[in-house]
Amino acid sequence: MTRTAILGVGHYVPSKVVTNDDLAKMFDTSDEWIQQRTGIKERRFIEEEGIGPADLAVPAVKMACEKAGIEVSEIDAIIFATLSPDHEFPGSGCFLGDYLGLPGVPALDIRNQCSGFLYGLQIADAWIRCGMYERVALVGGEVHSTGIDLSDEGRDVAVLFGDGAACAILGPTEEEGRGVMDVEVHADGSGAKELWIEAPASKYIPRITHEMIDQRKVWPAMNGKQVFRWATSKMPEVARSVLERNGVGVADIDLLVPHQANRRINEFVAQKLELPTEKVVHNIHKYGNTTAASIPLALSEAMQEGRAKKGDLILMAAFGSGFTWGASLVRL
Ligand SMILES: CC(C)(COP(=O)(O)OP(=O)(O)OC[C@H]1O[C@@H](n2cnc3c(N)ncnc32)[C@H](O)[C@@H]1OP(=O)(O)O)[C@@H](O)C(=O)NCCC(=O)NCCS
Repeated sequence: MTRTAILGVGHYVPSKVVTNDDLAKMFDTSDEWIQQRTGIKERRFIEEEGIGPADLAVPAVKMACEKAGIEVSEIDAIIFATLSPDHEFPGSGCFLGDYLGLPGVPALDIRNQCSGFLYGLQIADAWIRCGMYERVALVGGEVHSTGIDLSDEGRDVAVLFGDGAACAILGPTEEEGRGVMDVEVHADGSGAKELWIEAPASKYIPRITHEMIDQRKVWPAMNGKQVFRWATSKMPEVARSVLERNGVGVADIDLLVPHQANRRINEFVAQKLELPTEKVVHNIHKYGNTTAASIPLALSEAMQEGRAKKGDLILMAAFGSGFTWGASLVRL
């Protein structure tokens, strides 16, 4: 049976390191507060204006192709997951295809926030298993630093996010046991306004006004406690569901690669699943929350460090704005 294999993974983060102390110089916060509540020590921001998620994705895709042993020119479809697209339209995938020199290659942008990589994985898996495409570049890329309010008023959100991109090259495999076993994703829009940006909005005439800017509707707004509550309930729930319906026990998991939103959330998820800490990947201390990029970025680093290797059974789980959430089981 043809399955979808992760052939290679790559990542790229901008070089500008922004520590918690750097943020504390801009607004009222502290390294202690941020580390205690989130586990974040630093994050990366783009070095200068003019760098978008598609720019960050270029080196990530090249690295993923190299790891997969393919040429960039062999990519026959792009899926770009982002909540911070380079421009309102067209999608970042179109820009990326152009930067990579892939005219004519289809590019699909998806807007599933922190669960974007898992939503994209489900789409790519279906495409590949039905024989539609053979080399799909599944990208998660974000530039958050230009869209957060780096002031006292925005501090609850501003400390959480960082910029980065990562890519998985997916393709068919006949290797026994290898590949994507399952992807389960969910959404519940009743929580949409718990973590969102209200404006600009096509439902308002005009879409943006000075008043909306003054009312801070252009910045992300988050009910942190609600998000925390939902994430710690839904991530273990969907992870268990995927394990159960595939007859996989927790002991069979080699590594949990969770979305990196908050170290406390991921420790809680691991505890609920009864997974030992050494089987959980954390890199939030270095990058903060890179949203759609966070799972492939964590997987790419784990593979680079030799923590995740061929034959390993990887459990991925995510929760994010929407609300959206999901989990996947993949044998590398
Ligand atoms: C954001 C989060 C860390 C906040 O932690 P918390 O314990 O709920 O903190 P609270 O929001 O209750 O705020 C506690 C206090 O710290 C203050 N505070 C908020 N942000 C702060 C910051 N960056 N630095 C210092 N103090 C801050 C608050 O104003 C509040 O002060 P008060 O008690 O005087 O009113 C936590 O709710 C969380 O991680 N939620 C999930 C967020 C998430 O994962 N988002 C992405 C999902 S994909």
